[in-house]
Amino acid sequence: MRLYVGSDHAGFALKEHVREHLEHEGYEVVDVGTHTEESVDYPDFARQVGEAVAAGDADYGVLVCGSGLGMAIAANKVDGVRAVQVMDTEMAKMSRMHNDANIVTLAGRYTEPEIADAIVDTFLATAFEGGRHQNRVDKIAAIEHEG
Ligand code: RB5
Repeated sequence: MRLYVGSDHAGFALKEHVREHLEHEGYEVVDVGTHTEESVDYPDFARQVGEAVAAGDADYGVLVCGSGLGMAIAANKVDGVRAVQVMDTEMAKMSRMHNDANIVTLAGRYTEPEIADAIVDTFLATAFEGGRHQNRVDKIAAIEHEG
């Protein structure tokens, strides 16, 4: 499974931690940056990861900013992205089972590294339930395509 990860300066430290964790778990990880704590703009990284996921270059994406909120807002502007800001494993599980989320965003300023690891592990291990939820996800896509 190939993952794209990215962050801004406020998510840099947690992104580094999560990337190392994912590599240790055996995932192929592409890190689009940022690579320092110098101030940058989170939409630049949300766009890169979102476009990789939407194009099928990545199976899933992980984005980290201070709150995770801006990353989710920006990534969701890419057609085909279903990005969710997640603070615990239960929501990570639900976002996959019911929403077929393809990007998880994390809060670098509010989420402990061990919790972040557990969130991404749960996110990546949980399958979409399909069935009645497929119809609902299709309706989300229809909003993108039909306006
Ligand atoms: C940067 O200060 C902060 O606004 C950003 O990391 C993120 O939390 C935005 O949603």
